[in-house]
Amino acid sequence: MNFDFTFYNPTIIHFGKNSLNALHEELKKYGQNVLLVYGGGSIKQIGVYDKVVKILNDERKNIFECSGITPNPKLTDMLRGVRMIEDHHIDLILAVGGGSVIDCAKGMSVSVGIKDPFKTLWLDQKEVTKNNVPVGSILTMVGTGSEFNGGSVITDEEHKIKIGRVFPSHVNPKFSILNPEFTYTVSEYQMVSGIFDIFSHLMEQYFSGQDDNVSDYLIEGLMKSLIVSTKKALINKEDYEARSNIMWAASLALNTLVGKGKEQDWEVHNIEHQLGAYTDCAHGMGLAAISVPYYRHIYKYGLDKFVRFAKNIWNVDSSNKTKEEIALAGIKALEDFIKESHMISHIKDLGATEEMLKDIAYSSAEWGGYKKLTHEEIYEILKEAY
Ligand code: NZQ
Ligand code: ZN
Repeated sequence: MNFDFTFYNPTIIHFGKNSLNALHEELKKYGQNVLLVYGGGSIKQIGVYDKVVKILNDERKNIFECSGITPNPKLTDMLRGVRMIEDHHIDLILAVGGGSVIDCAKGMSVSVGIKDPFKTLWLDQKEVTKNNVPVGSILTMVGTGSEFNGGSVITDEEHKIKIGRVFPSHVNPKFSILNPEFTYTVSEYQMVSGIFDIFSHLMEQYFSGQDDNVSDYLIEGLMKSLIVSTKKALINKEDYEARSNIMWAASLALNTLVGKGKEQDWEVHNIEHQLGAYTDCAHGMGLAAISVPYYRHIYKYGLDKFVRFAKNIWNVDSSNKTKEEIALAGIKALEDFIKESHMISHIKDLGATEEMLKDIAYSSAEWGGYKKLTHEEIYEILKEAY
């Protein structure tokens, strides 16, 4: 492995069909005032809201509600939550929903008492104080890994900037409750969007570096499991085995474990975040549409890794093929997986227009793993993805 690291992840995970029961014990650790943060109402339709409120009442908590957190959570909603935390002396923020709700809750948690938090903490990446308000999460939509990390991606709609920051581990949810059955009602569109998000997190950490390291083997195992479970979940959304495997794979893919000791890429995410700022698209679908053109653009710079990906993940037959042919066959297999899983392959199907492409490209961060891209190259990739 190339890099030294410290690994510490303090989130307590309660996983499984009965995991909501653990909320009783968790709530006892915090004060009386709980801010319940959730989205547009899916948690009410699926009955999770009633169950959570009953437990909060049983534990004699004062409940304050901050609902209406949208996908690609907006700065204005985050600031609304901060005001509620300050006004009601909140002791615990309880986020119930997908990555957007949990990200927004973490954003509220670190922003209390900070003047212009978006500029200070996200744009200028200033240090975050340790006295942030604790967050707990109950996950209902799988993909981001937000339930197990310190990440918070916030969109400033006015200035069309969507930016993520991975905060130190004291910002992680103190606990996360993961019941795969709560995810059965997610639409197929959102389910496969989340699945590609997981796949992308794995690829962003895999396609970088030349060294032999444990992390890449872990990533390969997660990718293989995800491919198997995706096929099953597409046939039967209520296949507990498949949905539980997907849920745990998502958490493991972005709790920082599988990136330890190695270089990482994250350029696809950078581009998608700006695509999201302009179109408000589902995050994973944006990643699906960008990934294939991106990897075709950069594979030559990390040829051996792309050959390994083709052979180990997609079982590409390497006989009588050059390394280039094997690598390209692996990327083609990824493209086929995207299509077969009903994911999106073109950003025009996500609301992007030709006029937007240059603005998206030039507002995306120039980063990269095997190749650091220029804005002009990002523009070319977006045209390919269009
Ligand atoms: O708003 P509600 O009514 O809850 O509906 C949501 C939303 O419309 C719905 N949903 C959630 N659970 C459901 C359900 N519908 C039916 N049944 C259920 N059980 O699903 C829709 C999408 O939810 P959202 O939270 O937006 O999806 P996701 O989990 O994909 O989160 C995406 C956000 O996370 C960020 C993305 O950029 C995006 O802003 N990310 C966060 C990361 C992190 N914290 O580490 C890393 C990721 O790479 C990503 O950038
Ligand atoms: Zn992602």
